[in-house]
Amino acid sequence: MKTAIRAALLTFSRDPLLYGVEAGMRHESDAVVVMEDGRIAAVGPASTLLPTLRPEVVVTSYPDGLILPGFIDCHVHYPQTEMIAAYGEQLIDWLNHYTFVTEQGFADKAHAAAVAEVFLAEQLRHGVTSSAVFCTVFPDSVDALFEAAERRRMRLIAGKVCMDQFAPAALLDTAERAYDESKALIGRWHGRGRAEYAITPRFAPTSSSAQLEALGALAAEYPDMAIQSHLAETPREIAWAKSLHPDCPHYTGVYQHYGLLRPRAVYGHGIHLQEEELQLLYDSGASLAHCPSSNFFLGSGCFDLRRARAMPRPVTVGLASDLGAGTSFSMLHTMRSAYEAAQLNGFPLSAPQAFYLATRGSAEALGLADKVGSIEVGLEADLVVLNLRSTPLIDFRMRYVRDIQEALFVQMILGDDRAVAATYVAGQLQYCPGQA
Ligand code: GUN
Ligand code: ZN
Repeated sequence: MKTAIRAALLTFSRDPLLYGVEAGMRHESDAVVVMEDGRIAAVGPASTLLPTLRPEVVVTSYPDGLILPGFIDCHVHYPQTEMIAAYGEQLIDWLNHYTFVTEQGFADKAHAAAVAEVFLAEQLRHGVTSSAVFCTVFPDSVDALFEAAERRRMRLIAGKVCMDQFAPAALLDTAERAYDESKALIGRWHGRGRAEYAITPRFAPTSSSAQLEALGALAAEYPDMAIQSHLAETPREIAWAKSLHPDCPHYTGVYQHYGLLRPRAVYGHGIHLQEEELQLLYDSGASLAHCPSSNFFLGSGCFDLRRARAMPRPVTVGLASDLGAGTSFSMLHTMRSAYEAAQLNGFPLSAPQAFYLATRGSAEALGLADKVGSIEVGLEADLVVLNLRSTPLIDFRMRYVRDIQEALFVQMILGDDRAVAATYVAGQLQYCPGQA
């Protein structure tokens, strides 16, 4: 059955940072998106598209609305939902004192299932329709998340965290278990509906060389599969990784050595990278997940987006919350943090660049751009509709904007979950305010 929505529309085909706003961004002031069988069947100006629709097609209009591709959070930890906003530590202590305590609770599948429900409901409330998610070391915690996502028809990438050293015994697997359990999960979930598996070593320090080797072998068996991990988030972590791998030239070289750098390999952070490492990421096709609210929260540093994207070796970068070190599910909030991080590097990130990163940029990092991340005929109908006048202050401020770029910037600086008027997943309304 065909359905349609009507409002202003914004979508990106290419990075405005590299190709210019004109070439990369499509904006319609009054558009219609027609959805059928979970996909986008037509998109265009209301004046041309509405007369072509049969009378039985229901068109839902959103006054003051802006239709965007659903936001894509390309690096997030669902088990950390219950410990978001844990006070006052930097990465390694934060992991030991909060994260590794919390994640032990996910040995209980009922607990994992309950948190997965909250996590996905929050994502939809914030207009996030797809994400790449770290679970815990327990395979049940992966099943719980995929089951909850399947009920909502969400396109989700997730994986069992693998770690066999430097964490509490209850959270450790082994090289062999990491391989076997990941492989069993791949068999159960990869390609089932909209689920995709990601091979997920937590980060180099918590995996032995044997485990990294086993996961590299698994990755070689599945050359198109996503890989996710962390890289160069803090100086202390980098020194630790290097001390464990003295023969590797740098931290990125560790992942390269074990065959874990390639397209669809997405590394969280990458704040403190040498030029050589950025070149290696580019050459291998691997991507970075920019997690600015997390980086501010843990005091990890200020990712230099302009440097990472610089020609002639523009590393693919997506935007991510990295919750629970990240401080919000909201990609608007995350864009604001990205703007602030860029400012501190002397670079005023523009609104089109930020909205690109949160949609098409994340899709490209995850290798999903042929499915989601843009509003184009044939792509899956994952959409968010923003209400551009969601609070009294935003309403007032919007009276003074002169063009779409100013309007977008107001949204990313002042907007939050209240700006989400509707979230559509595979063509179906999955969230609107006031809905139970
Ligand atoms: N590095 C290794 N594990 C984690 C994690 O859970 N969160 C963040 N922010 N960094 C990490
Ligand atoms: Zn992370």
